[in-house]
Amino acid sequence: MTLKDAYKDKFYIGTALNAWQLMGNKPSEMHIAQSQFNSIVAENVMKSGRIQAKEGEFNFELADKFVEFGEQNNMHIHGHTLIWHSQAPRWFFTDQQGNLVSKEVLTERMKTHIFTVVGRYKGRIDSWDVVNEAIEDDGSYRNSKFYQILGEDFIKLAFKFAHQADPDAELYYNDYSMAIPSKRNGVVKMVKKLKDEGIPIHGIGMQGHIGLNHPDIKEFDKSLEAYSQLGKVMITELELSVLPSPWGDAGAELSDTYTYEDKMNPFPNGLPEDVQRQFTQRYVEFFKLFLKHSDHISRVALWGINDGNSWKNNWPVRGRTDYPLLFDRDNQAKPVVKELIELVR
Ligand code: G3I
Repeated sequence: MTLKDAYKDKFYIGTALNAWQLMGNKPSEMHIAQSQFNSIVAENVMKSGRIQAKEGEFNFELADKFVEFGEQNNMHIHGHTLIWHSQAPRWFFTDQQGNLVSKEVLTERMKTHIFTVVGRYKGRIDSWDVVNEAIEDDGSYRNSKFYQILGEDFIKLAFKFAHQADPDAELYYNDYSMAIPSKRNGVVKMVKKLKDEGIPIHGIGMQGHIGLNHPDIKEFDKSLEAYSQLGKVMITELELSVLPSPWGDAGAELSDTYTYEDKMNPFPNGLPEDVQRQFTQRYVEFFKLFLKHSDHISRVALWGINDGNSWKNNWPVRGRTDYPLLFDRDNQAKPVVKELIELVR
């Protein structure tokens, strides 16, 4: 039994693919993608800085391979991401002198980008993260360049353009720390307002960058409840870090006992059994919660295939070794995979 077979009547079970995999250098990882998952998302190759690094020069080489792989394997294909302040190229916001451009210019650039990218994959990419990370943890709008130039309107424009470019695609707002109450309130307020104004937004993506001790699963539950009232929900970018946060919040229990250097890399010889068990239990708890809300959840997607691929190895400092995904560095399924399958059998 595979993950995708086990969850087929519940929600799509997805994974992110990275550039190395799409370039054909990682056949074993692609085999896991094919056999265990029925949905894919591009971890980096569809970001605006990759697709349109220079104005008007579009590079779709890896994005095309990504979509072709999904089609060949009959997968649900999710696009990530159209409008994100981070990783957007500088030219998007500035003129030749380096000054911020006018509302009109930025609107035109957004329109061209969204029409070109969504238009190219019309009818082939099923759903999009249209706007990524526009709300701060306190619920206010992030003061990004998009916001500085266009105010809240940039969000409406992005959804309108995406809908015009492919009226059949499902359109999502995606963000992290979505279980923090103040952020939840801010996102709910924003999405309600968009819907009241008739903006085509179909769902909310809750990024799942979780740790052993954060976030509080009860708050995650409340957020799932609240976002479900507004449309579909996706659990996006899921991985479970076992490392304490160097600034002490995320992995509070572990961080008490380790020095700063240890916190960088506390498990040089692999995961001790007790941590492995906590890891399994915590994934199981979260999947139980997803199953509780499965009527509203369209997709749950891991942010990578194996531990070696995870961005968590180099964040927040380079040189960390983390173990956050479902398959280990040798592409072996961890014990958690069997447990997750058992949950729905
Ligand atoms: O591909 C280049 C390589 O050619 C170069 O030698 C190397 C040197 O640093 O960089 C490589 O690119 C890196 C890329 O990941 C691929 O590994 C970029 O520097 C690095 O910034 C990039 O990080 C990605 C990050 O988004 C920024 O785009 C992570 O992989 C990716 O997991 C992360 O994902 C984001 C989501 O899109 C949005 N939500 C938060 C999430 C985590 O930050």
